[in-house]
Amino acid sequence: MNFTSEIAQLKKKKNAVILAHYYQVGEIQEVADFIGDSLGLSQEAAKTNADIIVFAGVVFMAETAKIINPSKKVVVPEKEAGCSLVDSCPPDKFKSFIMEHPGYTVISYINCSAEVKAMSDIICTSTNSVKIVESLPREEKIIFAPDINLGRYVVRKTGREMVLWNGECEVHVNISHDKLLLLREKHPAAKLIAHPECKESVLKYADFIGSTTALINYVKTHPDPEFIVATEAGILHKMRQSVTGKNLIPAPAFEDNACACSECPYMKMNTMEKLYNCLVNEQPEIEVEEKTRLLAEKSIRRMLELSAGL
Ligand code: 13P
Ligand code: SF4
Repeated sequence: MNFTSEIAQLKKKKNAVILAHYYQVGEIQEVADFIGDSLGLSQEAAKTNADIIVFAGVVFMAETAKIINPSKKVVVPEKEAGCSLVDSCPPDKFKSFIMEHPGYTVISYINCSAEVKAMSDIICTSTNSVKIVESLPREEKIIFAPDINLGRYVVRKTGREMVLWNGECEVHVNISHDKLLLLREKHPAAKLIAHPECKESVLKYADFIGSTTALINYVKTHPDPEFIVATEAGILHKMRQSVTGKNLIPAPAFEDNACACSECPYMKMNTMEKLYNCLVNEQPEIEVEEKTRLLAEKSIRRMLELSAGL
């Protein structure tokens, strides 16, 4: 079966929109209506006129789309596509943590469950985290969850003290600092660009740190010809399409895998066949319990308001 043309026809027939993250396999990115980072995808979900949102990413992203579009159907190719950051922050433990810190404003990275979003005051992404922290008065006491590496990066950038939840992205922390240094010896002129979910031991060597969209834009606009890219390897698809004649080298992970680069096992659960099936069956569908949804919507909308122009 030619999934590409079948998906295109179904999309039209059902007035569905396909939103895809840059970490999806190339063929999924090619059939998507919009490809972006977590902020761009949330902004797109907030303004879509489609009846069905097909979210080719991981479940917390689709939940975010459902939270701001309660009357629309939101479906995903694979409901088991989770995220280690979500798993690192169980809602019951996070509730106790918040109770141990009365008077703190809770900023949560979008990579968390709907329940954690509902307990948060503002959501952020890697694009707007610094801006969102800086939007609060200097004396405000802040809890930042769940990514400790993004949290530490924001602390360094803003000079603000924050209480950090100890969660990690298993993909970005697996980027090997030792192998990266060997790669830099081989490519001494290459610029190292990194996602802020990486460990500080990697970030300290980076020439540029940013969200997936920011990394793509950097490679597009920077005159240098060679870049080592320290994030999930799916990004290379769009990067390679965006530039010609540049050498883009994926940063190596600790464990060599098929491509000797970093791949998110959750993002890669989605396939063209699953995408096709979810459009045909309009399943699996994402549901969020209404009380949780209403609270989570407040913290997401606050982020969207603070992100106008980003
Ligand atoms: P961004 O695309 O928002 O930079 O996030 C990266 C990521 O890890 C998504 O899970
Ligand atoms: Fe979660 Fe990391 Fe995968 Fe993104 S790359 S979905 S943060 S495990």
